[in-house]
Amino acid sequence: MSRVLSGIQPSGELHLGNYLGAVRHWVADQLVHDALYCIVDLHALTVDTDPDRLRAQTRETATALLAAGLDPARCTLFVQSSVPEHTSLAWLLECTATMGELSRMTQFKEKGHGRTSVRVGLFTYPVLMAADILLYDADRVPVGDDQRQHLELARVLAERFNRRYGTTFVVPEASTPAVGARVMDLQDPTRKMSKSTHSPLGTIGMLDEPADIERKVRRAVTDTEGAVRYDPERQPGLANLLELLAVATNRTPADVAEGYERYGDVKRDTAEALVELLAPVRRRHAELAGDPGEVLNLLRTGAAKASAVAAATYRRAATAVGLLELD
Ligand code: AMP
Ligand code: TRP
Repeated sequence: MSRVLSGIQPSGELHLGNYLGAVRHWVADQLVHDALYCIVDLHALTVDTDPDRLRAQTRETATALLAAGLDPARCTLFVQSSVPEHTSLAWLLECTATMGELSRMTQFKEKGHGRTSVRVGLFTYPVLMAADILLYDADRVPVGDDQRQHLELARVLAERFNRRYGTTFVVPEASTPAVGARVMDLQDPTRKMSKSTHSPLGTIGMLDEPADIERKVRRAVTDTEGAVRYDPERQPGLANLLELLAVATNRTPADVAEGYERYGDVKRDTAEALVELLAPVRRRHAELAGDPGEVLNLLRTGAAKASAVAAATYRRAATAVGLLELD
């Protein structure tokens, strides 16, 4: 059985883009792969974070992922900082990567640009991510487009380490979800739906109340063409709604478009389909939120499972580079 691993930052409430573009696929993968999912709290420290907020968001992200359908009986869900080998291996990999390689990372250039003070951790972030992946001998890493360059670096570091010290790591493959996995902002359909959007009306939270989902979809920006067609170039707002209705009902957007003449009807049915799609997630979230001790227990079990794998890989790597072993 091949092993998949992915990670998510505990940086706020999950939205519909996270759910449809990532988490839903994680839920499906756990049924057919040996799957590990890591809440990367150490990565969150690369920018300014409030300690209490980080703690709360880490718990909340775990709760939301469980509510979305990750099943601890079928996958390993854990928090990065509870497995110390992530930072230990990151050091060995920092001594494998070069300044030039990390300087070319576009996310670092974008996030660091214009700041007077940039944390070293923001620079070495992709190395920690490589450690997250290589520690678990992951074959496949589902990531969005924006993370492909980081994944390529993980591959390069694994290959270099293997060449230098003998075969130690599995070289991972990236996997990007199929087309249609890009959910756009409802108020500005040229931008990806994201948590850092300007208009709260543009983003649907995974746990939004039905009335909020209906309001946001009703007010979604469309166009003045007046005909319902699936044309992402000329009618990006409408195309986004058709794509949402299509994934929620397992059809293609062009098929969905056939059945409509009025934008209002598309919006009504899209809202209804999304409310239905997210209802079980909201229900499970309410149950889990009422039992926070249970979420922590599940994270403890996940950490123990992850640690067993991570400790063995780290030992292999440490021995390969020549660190003295005492037991
Ligand atoms: P982020 O919230 O950017 O850290 O992303 C977490 C995961 O959700 C990544 O796998 C992203 O590719 C995915 N994701 C984020 N926003 C969207 C979106 N608007 N549409 C589809 N997938 C998304
Ligand atoms: N850097 C990823 C992001 O911002 C999160 C991440 C950290 C990750 N470690 C990972 C993703 C390992 C996949 C595998 O989205």
